[in-house]
Amino acid sequence: MINPLRGMKDLTFEESARFVHIITTAISISKKYGYSYIETPILEETGLFKRSVGESSDIVGKEMYQFEDKGGNDVCMRPEGTAGIVRAFVSAKLDRQPVKQKFYYYGPMFRYERPQKGRLREFHQFGCESFGEASVYEDFTIITMISQIFDALGIGFDLKINSLGCKVCMPTYKENLISSLTNIKEELCEDCNRRIGTNPIRVLDCKNGKCQSLLVESPKLINYLCEECDPDFNKLTALLDKAGISYEVDSNLVRGLDYYSKTAFEFVSNEIGAQSAIAGGGRYDRLVEFLDGKPTPAVGFAIGIERIMELVQMPEVKRDGMYLGAMTEEAVEALLPVATAKRLEQKVTLEYNSKGFKSHMKGADKVNARYCALIGEDELKNGTIWVKDLESKEEKTVLLEEF
Ligand code: HAM
Repeated sequence: MINPLRGMKDLTFEESARFVHIITTAISISKKYGYSYIETPILEETGLFKRSVGESSDIVGKEMYQFEDKGGNDVCMRPEGTAGIVRAFVSAKLDRQPVKQKFYYYGPMFRYERPQKGRLREFHQFGCESFGEASVYEDFTIITMISQIFDALGIGFDLKINSLGCKVCMPTYKENLISSLTNIKEELCEDCNRRIGTNPIRVLDCKNGKCQSLLVESPKLINYLCEECDPDFNKLTALLDKAGISYEVDSNLVRGLDYYSKTAFEFVSNEIGAQSAIAGGGRYDRLVEFLDGKPTPAVGFAIGIERIMELVQMPEVKRDGMYLGAMTEEAVEALLPVATAKRLEQKVTLEYNSKGFKSHMKGADKVNARYCALIGEDELKNGTIWVKDLESKEEKTVLLEEF
């Protein structure tokens, strides 16, 4: 028997119903916010992720499904969606159009991580990317939208926010951070020591308890924000306060992808164990330019579908559609055109085997049908069909042509 690869999963029955419910709920809410669907390839040039997610990030450094294709191209299965969408945005020259563009997407992402609860090698995201809007109102609106999606799915969350500054405030902060980290270098872990040289901001994100306790005293970016970033961040927190969306400012929230500037956020759940992030995102005002487009402000997020799968409160399943059955072989054939016609308006389960009445009623129950419609010898002779509403229990026999 061939099983799926480690860290990859089949989605069937109950789980796939949850998956569809999550995606349809998220789509319907994102459409109300003006997002339209975008689909980009799963396979992209490796250089795309190196330039956007960042060479020093764990995703690019350790976790890429990267290989050479038969044509000798260095390609990679996308580890996340934003890079490909920005590439598509630039490829289609949308960066040269004055209109704002908003896209939603969902699909599989691939990261060669060590599988554990909540951490897969193939997982799915639903995400949104908004291009062309520099106002912090858009950051607020996106956070509101994610809260609405989680509310609609019955999922509780905690929200963490931070500002990662911009090209004006980041360099001064980085300098101060590096000098402070260099002072405690000997006590920090190996990973942190490497990061001081490659990407010092990521040191703040270290999961090592000892490092975290040493970092308490290190400079906080929030205290170095420039004349533009500081009021924007204050505005965002004021807007969230006003809207009654609770949040925690987490000055160590740096995100694992290098393209962020200004607002960064994460939605976490305390009900799913160590891998608690259920959504993440933020502003990436410089990424379009990094990928050779015209400078375009942008902000977005992605929800990890598998992480919220168990948390979703599924709507009550109601009886739905029609079960069609026959008591004689001839009657089965008479039901074929009935099924085709009825399928134009509702779900139909057609039983191909002729059976007794009781057996058909059981069959209708099994598929949770609202109506059970049967043709026996008498009905076939009279050109009628017997139908029962399994909710109201009403039953009647009607002419087939009027059915
Ligand atoms: P991310 O934080 O890397 O952001 O991923 C978003 C979400 O995907 C996480 O919060 C988590 O729920 C889920 N996730 C990540 N890795 C795994 C995994 N190995 N197994 C299961 N679930 C996982 C991004 O990917 C950005 N592209 C989000 C974004 C969009 N930022 C701006 N626009």
